[in-house]
Amino acid sequence: MATPRPSLLTLILARALTSVTDIRLVSDSDCCGRVEIRYNGQWGSVCDNNWDMNDAAVVCRQLQCGSAISAPHGAAFGQSSRSIWLDDVECLGNEGTLTQCSHRGLGNHTCEHSQDAGVVCLGELQMPILTSTHTVVSPGENIQFRCTTPKPRCNANAEFQIFRNRLSISSQKHVSSVTFNLFNVDISHQGKYSCQYSYENNKSPLSSSVIIFVVDLQQPSISHSASDGQFVVGSQGPVITRGHSFTIICSTESQFPGGSFHLFTGSNITRSESAVNHSASFFFPEADYSHEGNYSCVYEVSVSSRSFRSSASELLLITITASLLPVIGAAVSAVLLLLSVLIIMLLLKRRQKQRNKETRSKCCFTKADSRF
Ligand SMILES: *[C@@H]1O[C@H](CO)[C@@H](O)[C@H](O)[C@H]1NC(C)=O
Ligand SMILES: *[C@@H]1O[C@H](CO)[C@@H](O)[C@H](O)[C@H]1NC(C)=O
Ligand SMILES: *[C@@H]1O[C@H](CO)[C@@H](O)[C@H](O)[C@H]1NC(C)=O
Ligand SMILES: *[C@@H]1O[C@H](CO)[C@@H](O)[C@H](O)[C@H]1NC(C)=O
Repeated sequence: MATPRPSLLTLILARALTSVTDIRLVSDSDCCGRVEIRYNGQWGSVCDNNWDMNDAAVVCRQLQCGSAISAPHGAAFGQSSRSIWLDDVECLGNEGTLTQCSHRGLGNHTCEHSQDAGVVCLGELQMPILTSTHTVVSPGENIQFRCTTPKPRCNANAEFQIFRNRLSISSQKHVSSVTFNLFNVDISHQGKYSCQYSYENNKSPLSSSVIIFVVDLQQPSISHSASDGQFVVGSQGPVITRGHSFTIICSTESQFPGGSFHLFTGSNITRSESAVNHSASFFFPEADYSHEGNYSCVYEVSVSSRSFRSSASELLLITITASLLPVIGAAVSAVLLLLSVLIIMLLLKRRQKQRNKETRSKCCFTKADSRF
């Protein structure tokens, strides 16, 4: 029985249909996943018998995904439900396509889908993204950084590194992103942070940097003045005479412009004023007993739309004493009264003396008169 000879057209068609036109990696990410080839117009998987890095290298190169990172066995990226097209693949590593490598023949296999082969290729390592919970912080706060790769390589662990001023300060392995905590920050944590990830020493570019600024506000100082000089510095603080004016001055050596001062008595804010040249004056036009107390200043300033408060200044104890005016008045009146009494007494005495003289001269005159 002679079989009919195939025409040229059917030969070309058959060739086109039976040739491997495509290769792909099945997963949620780029340049990694279950290896599948298209044969006879159908996608099918590759068996993991003898599957190794040389085979993965050919797949990665064929897909323009750079070098291979790993060649996972055992349906690491899930099982296909279609044909198994290749088995016992043994590449040298320099082949142009997977089917050019030695294998059992397309469709000839002794496999189950639980043996589907996979690859993880390096691909193009994109710049990671570094974020932080805050960029401007006060001492004692915590910051959390997160470094994320925009395109993780399936389940392959990348080594993430965090740098401060280009020096590595932490490294962790993860598939897609790591977090890094800075607890209880102080001024030494200030600086430029960036991150990077790598697979087997193949490093990604550095992320763009995050600049951490620590707002370390100094303790403000507190002082007072009483323009009309009506104060006495007691052993604990100024003593202001009731009814007189006094001023409490808050100042600081801040490196930030603006801000404001809060004047506290005890734990309550009594008054607030904006800072001018890093100081503020709180004017009390008429001292009263209600103004007595321990005063302190707190400086507050907004940096990068966050508000920061300094610690409280030292305490300034203001004491109010009674007005001296009535006392002086009373004293003056008493002295005046005493003086008038004295003058009256003197006058009275003088009068008496004069009267005595008069009577004495009268008597003598009469005596003399009687003599004549
Ligand atoms: C399948 O592969 C084996 C081993 O290489 C070979 O002995 C067998 O002949 C092949 N079968 C077919 C149908 O090609
Ligand atoms: C602070 O304010 C609270 C409530 O406004 C008040 O009860 C308390 O006496 C105040 N303390 C001082 C020291 O003024
Ligand atoms: C602030 O300081 C500047 C320069 O020292 C001075 O010229 C200006 O008068 C000051 N302003 C006030 C309100 O004290
Ligand atoms: C002010 O503070 C001092 C020291 O803390 C305290 O001994 C004093 O009683 C306080 N005086 C007032 C009026 O709160």
